[in-house]
Amino acid sequence: MSRFFTESLKALQPYVPGEQPQDMQYIKLNTNESPFPASPKAVAAITGEEVSRLYLYSDPDCKALIAAIAKRYGLQPEQVTVGNGSDEVLWFALRAFCDENTPLAYNDITYGCYKTWCSMLNVPSKILPLQEDYSVDLSLYRGLDSTIMITNPNAPTGLCLTVQEIEGVLQENPDHVVIVDEAYVDFGGESCVSLIDKYENLLVVQTCSKSRSLAGARLGFAMGNAALISDLNRIKFSFNPYNVNRLTCLAGIAAMEDEEYFQTCTRTVAQTREKTAAALKTMGFTLTDSKANFLFAESSRIPGGVLYRKLKEKGILVRHFDKPRLENRLRITVGSQQQMEALLTALKELGA
Ligand SMILES: Cc1ncc(COP(=O)(O)O)c(C=O)c1O
Repeated sequence: MSRFFTESLKALQPYVPGEQPQDMQYIKLNTNESPFPASPKAVAAITGEEVSRLYLYSDPDCKALIAAIAKRYGLQPEQVTVGNGSDEVLWFALRAFCDENTPLAYNDITYGCYKTWCSMLNVPSKILPLQEDYSVDLSLYRGLDSTIMITNPNAPTGLCLTVQEIEGVLQENPDHVVIVDEAYVDFGGESCVSLIDKYENLLVVQTCSKSRSLAGARLGFAMGNAALISDLNRIKFSFNPYNVNRLTCLAGIAAMEDEEYFQTCTRTVAQTREKTAAALKTMGFTLTDSKANFLFAESSRIPGGVLYRKLKEKGILVRHFDKPRLENRLRITVGSQQQMEALLTALKELGA
């Protein structure tokens, strides 16, 4: 840290993303990417002609992209905005709906960025502990007097709340925004998009990084009533108006329109997840009922940290969080059937 770094952020602990080795030597099951390439239609959309137009800025309103997302989800374009990954959209939401006096409430075990963003934005965190089995204690969500973040399915547990349960939280907190982070919803969860016209305090955030195989393109989107979306756009246009680049806009439109590819990929991941979970259970692993594109698994024989290192030595990267209640678990991205077979073989060789 230089002596010029702002005093107010000296205690900031940056989020540590999963390893991204650039040599592709590993079977990569650590950052919940799709095992499938981007839709061929998304690839075809990035023409040489468009690449040559990179000297021009992108459309700051992302009109065509937003129209495609709105159409896919049965919304009006005013009910959608987009960002450089859902990380950026979520950050806009925290900037717009939280401050020193309006905390963000979220679970103790969830996506690590929320905590980092709260410290960066000077927003108090209201931490809601998960129960022993990692399920959400909904009684903690009554009259919270905070902006609320619900990660559904949750990460790294993969556990879901039902739309009815989230509707209860919306009803019990009518004067606060409830953000539902649905990064993993397409693999078996239930989306809250259907509630958008009913609740003015609901903001649903999704990403193209997982179920639409576009992690490297960086594209996320928020859906909610037009007033909430306009709030997010106030932040976006005060920060980075061209936040989605030209190539990502085109790839995003094509991916959004390629419903068949999306359905095939998400269905295959869900089937592979169930098969792998069954095999791991037979080997004595304990698992949550994950509805995401990852498994949250504990070996009865080898501690999580040791297993993570041994798998890495064998060329398989998974995610290990060295934190209370997580240290014995691994978060394993659901890859291709072949990758999961390699994982199971390696685990057997290690005696896990
Ligand atoms: C729960 C959750 N939300 C949001 C994100 C951000 O994804 P992206 O910025 O790639 O859209 C992630 C990334 O892993 C995540 O796990």
